[in-house]
Amino acid sequence: MNKILVMHGPNLNMLGTREPEIYGSTTLQDINAMLREQAAAAGVETEFYQSNYEGGLIDRIQQAPEQAIDFIILNAGAFTHYSIALRDAIASVEVPVIEVHISNVHTREEFRHRSVIAPVVMGQILGFGVDSYSAAMFTAIKKLQAEE
Ligand code: DQA
Repeated sequence: MNKILVMHGPNLNMLGTREPEIYGSTTLQDINAMLREQAAAAGVETEFYQSNYEGGLIDRIQQAPEQAIDFIILNAGAFTHYSIALRDAIASVEVPVIEVHISNVHTREEFRHRSVIAPVVMGQILGFGVDSYSAAMFTAIKKLQAEE
């Protein structure tokens, strides 16, 4: 069975109450439940990981190959904009990564316009609220099915 790891970076555990005018009112638990269901309907297993720590996210990415993870969907939060260490972790594994953002970072502060992980991910999906995650899940499942 194919396995997709969904990873959430710093402050995303606060979804639901965090700046709802930007991020909406859906909680992280709701997002994960929605993605679990979407994947299960396609016969794909999911794992979820959230951390406020750069090292925690890096460790999980490094472990992905030995844990037979086929795809990673990653919202790296603010680390997106400056974590070269996270970028290097993504580059160090063969597992494909889809970068996700709830908000359209390009219409926001300038420091959010740059993604240091963009050059090492398969693609980016952003600006569609929590639907950015479902669109990423749709894409990951499609790619995995194409490999079968
Ligand atoms: C975010 C955008 C980032 O700039 C921000 O730091 C976040 C959330 C998003 O999903 O829109 O934490 O990744």
